[in-house]
Amino acid sequence: MSAHQPRGDGRLPRRGRPARRHTPGPPRGRHGPSRPPEVDPARQAALELLTAVRERDAYANLALPTILRRHRLRDRDAALATELGYGTLRTQGLLDAVIEACTDRPMSHVEAPLLDALRLGTYQLLRTRIPPHAAVDTTVDLVRSTAGSRSAGFVNAILRRIGQRDEAAWVAELAPPAQEDAIGHAAFTHAHPRWIAQAFADALGPAGPAELDAALAADDARPVVHLLARPGEITAEELASACGGGPAPYSPYGVHLEPGTGEIGELGAVAEGLALVQDEGSQLVALGLARAALEGPDGGRWLDLCAGPGGKAALLGGLVALDGGSLDAVERSEHRAGLVRRAVDGLPVIVHVADGREAPLPVGGYDRVLVDAPCTGLGALRRRPEARWRRRPEDVPELAKLQRELLGAALRHVRPGGVVAYVTCSPHLAETVGVVTGVLRRRDDVEHLDARAVLPGVGDLGPGPSVQLWPHRHGTDAMFLALLRRTG
Ligand SMILES: C[S@@+](CC[C@H](N)C(=O)[O-])C[C@H]1O[C@@H](n2cnc3c(N)ncnc32)[C@H](O)[C@@H]1O
Repeated sequence: MSAHQPRGDGRLPRRGRPARRHTPGPPRGRHGPSRPPEVDPARQAALELLTAVRERDAYANLALPTILRRHRLRDRDAALATELGYGTLRTQGLLDAVIEACTDRPMSHVEAPLLDALRLGTYQLLRTRIPPHAAVDTTVDLVRSTAGSRSAGFVNAILRRIGQRDEAAWVAELAPPAQEDAIGHAAFTHAHPRWIAQAFADALGPAGPAELDAALAADDARPVVHLLARPGEITAEELASACGGGPAPYSPYGVHLEPGTGEIGELGAVAEGLALVQDEGSQLVALGLARAALEGPDGGRWLDLCAGPGGKAALLGGLVALDGGSLDAVERSEHRAGLVRRAVDGLPVIVHVADGREAPLPVGGYDRVLVDAPCTGLGALRRRPEARWRRRPEDVPELAKLQRELLGAALRHVRPGGVVAYVTCSPHLAETVGVVTGVLRRRDDVEHLDARAVLPGVGDLGPGPSVQLWPHRHGTDAMFLALLRRTG
């Protein structure tokens, strides 16, 4: 449920600005010219976000700031636009099933802009405390302002039908019965595609039947923002008191911000480059590599083979710098390599634009190597609202092949006695255990270390030797970590 409490009519205070009008030409009613409807800018912004994601395949978190700026939305208005835009994207499959149950036309015959508006209205009806009449009226106003009265009437009729029941009643009617299809039922209830719920259940293993609901619910919740206090720049305690957050439970460099903290980039410590946004799970897997036991001394030669946009390179670079070492950071994309350069500015890190499978770097030359492999990102869906409906199961085999090749390259670059951390922000078994066992099967010079040993104090890590973190267990993204030490 949204914490937003709009005015009784569901519109937000206008702060003295004139209402925006988006009517190309006012539609004429039966009794002469009718006034163009007032359109709420927060909802207009949310609708534009849906359009950008649908038409341009935009990433919601990258598209939203520009949209908010264009509408000059801040504070509560920006928060409402974000909640409605992100929430609608996250819940799309559930919303579509409810909309479909209430239309006479097949969904494929509903024009895409109308479908966006229907999703936005349905989200407000089912998953916020916005009064139903306000959810319907503001959506109908939006449609009337751009698509005219006929379309507005169509949307009005469907939303009124949808608003006759709450979310639980629609789920009870439309979800597959739990007795016949427990995974399908959980997927529908928590607005996930079934294949992703299946992947979570597989990764949870024996805990799946008991924990799948909690895992999907945590994945569906609005995530708390985590910050990394850059080693040597600021302590987590200093950062927490500067930002009004609390120290993270597991990472000594982590801070959890309070929900509703405003524009993160405007926090002093972030603007000054002392801290950056980074999920605590990402911090833990990078720390895991830094803490892993080597055979022989650590010469301070570290490598990050898939570095963009540079969050873990910033942490590893900060840590290796404390001991006088250095980090090579490889990234295939020129643009993302630029982001890495920004993230590691001032640290002893050299950024290379190269394919990590054939980077021109020393063979057997590194003490510690991170492979934070490109993956489906199923473990960070809570931070990427549209991703769960965009990803396809067909993406997995190709990614797994690339992951195996990158892990093979990492094992070439690490010295005997050195350690490779294989990391994904996906719990999908084909991308995690499947990749590691596939590579280990062909080698007799690699030891699989127990990664639980490098995460002291973190409970519920399973039987090892690899570690799978979970939002519902650890409050982190679902990061996977395997530690492999070269023996010869
Ligand atoms: C999961 S992200 C890494 C996140 C990063 N470690 C961080 O913490 O910010 C994977 C990265 O690998 C890059 N990548 C994909 N294929 C690659 C390849 N063959 N060689 C090197 N980098 C690659 C992607 O562009 C992406 O930036």
